[in-house]
Amino acid sequence: MDTKILTTENNDIKIAADILKNGGNVILPTETVYGLGADALNSSAVKNTFVAKGRPSDNPLIVHISSLDMLKDIVSEIPDTARRLMNKFWPGPLTIIMKKCKNVPYETTGGLDTVAVRMPKSEAARRIIAEAGIPISAPSANLSGKPSPTTARHCIDDMMGRVDAIVVGDDCEIGLESTVVDLSGEHPVLLRPGGITLEQLEEVLGIVECATSLKLGEPPKSPGLKYKHYSPNAEVVILSGTYDEVSEYVKENAKTKKIGMLVFDEFPKISDVVTISLGSRNLPYDAGNRLFSALRQMDDLTVDVVFAPEIPDNGMWLAVRNRLYRAAGEKIIDLSSRGNNKKQILFVCTGNTCRSPMAEAIFNNIARDKGFATSAGVGSEGEPVSQNSVEVMSEIGIDISHMKSKLVTREMIDTADLVLTMTKYHKDAVVSLFGNIDKIKTLAEAAGEIGDVSDPYGQGLDVYRDCRDTLCNMIEKVVKAL
Ligand code: TXA
Ligand code: MG
Repeated sequence: MDTKILTTENNDIKIAADILKNGGNVILPTETVYGLGADALNSSAVKNTFVAKGRPSDNPLIVHISSLDMLKDIVSEIPDTARRLMNKFWPGPLTIIMKKCKNVPYETTGGLDTVAVRMPKSEAARRIIAEAGIPISAPSANLSGKPSPTTARHCIDDMMGRVDAIVVGDDCEIGLESTVVDLSGEHPVLLRPGGITLEQLEEVLGIVECATSLKLGEPPKSPGLKYKHYSPNAEVVILSGTYDEVSEYVKENAKTKKIGMLVFDEFPKISDVVTISLGSRNLPYDAGNRLFSALRQMDDLTVDVVFAPEIPDNGMWLAVRNRLYRAAGEKIIDLSSRGNNKKQILFVCTGNTCRSPMAEAIFNNIARDKGFATSAGVGSEGEPVSQNSVEVMSEIGIDISHMKSKLVTREMIDTADLVLTMTKYHKDAVVSLFGNIDKIKTLAEAAGEIGDVSDPYGQGLDVYRDCRDTLCNMIEKVVKAL
């Protein structure tokens, strides 16, 4: 497909609007991130945006409008709470979920009876929508799994040849996707933090509930929250600890890996480590603005691991933290654990694609305060975690889609306080490779039970669910005993 590059001059805005009216796909700038626009009421135009992004089609889109009278074609009722938010925050980085009306195809809402609507602050975006005269659906204009694009350059890198046109506008002022608040139920629920903060919403609405998946270990409510997002190629890991603890850990790792660090300006530089600053510790909007570009830069630098700092969860920090921790797949290493009695657990199975990655994620979700788990296999390396494991873990709100298999090594055994294998066979294999060490046990033994956790590999979702539940059960017992 030929992709036209357009500017924000009047003539080009008209061309972009015409393409959209005729069912085409146009990338447009907004103040949050660049969006991949289509006629929101035209199901085939909308379907093409999923194809262009390579995104699962049950993930609903945000419908963008340029004036309030467009709402009548989109929502069946406007709750009073929504009116108050629109008055205060539109145009701006706030998306409101309401009940949809018939016009809006299920392709746009991912099969839901609700629809997400936002009036962007970006003038270029509103001019294009007004000129087209139709509501425009627009997911972030990145390839699925990549960080959202905050400059026209990012869009060109990802989407050239995949869309009809790209409108080149300013770099995005906010740089993180909009806040999403659901007003279709009894109580307002924050589904995604963004440029309008939870505190700002609560000033207008009173108490706003946080979607369970903003915390850990509960099922996702917004379909978009269950997919891996914002993730660069390298593994991202959050390091929690003092400067000394962090720098010691990073230097140790830099001996064997190419390390990239996301840091704040206040963090003294560690030599021989690639660092990209998110700005000052005191400026969350700056950090938000730089985050996605920084993650893309890390990919260009082909580092093996990106170490990133802990982020607070108040005000605008909540949005920055949400995106960064998701890029990290919630992987946090608590370095202060070395000094206290937190435990490093290593789970081992055959391929490290089903049982042990599930065990790792379960442990890290229920026992952060007791320790940190990793996992490995005795038989394979670099394989993605199995799709059925991803599916049954997402049912309990845990995203493991980013995980890849690792082969168990001497270093892993040495660093672990406890090595828990799925079966007696794995225990014997580890013992024969690394010697008989007290800390190597089967998971069942450590849980005070007998038997093996059998392999669900190649079987149906029900078998995976049973396996997950067995793991949850045994790991809870192990955690109690720690
Ligand atoms: O800032 C933004 O919102 C950008 C720009 C382009 O406007 N767009 C954006 O779209 O981030 P996207 O598709 O990447 O994210 C849409 C989010 C997803 O998390 C999706 O699950 C949620 O909104 N969403 C949309 N409709 C929903 C609905 N009816 N119910 C629950 N969540 C919904
Ligand atoms: Mg997105």
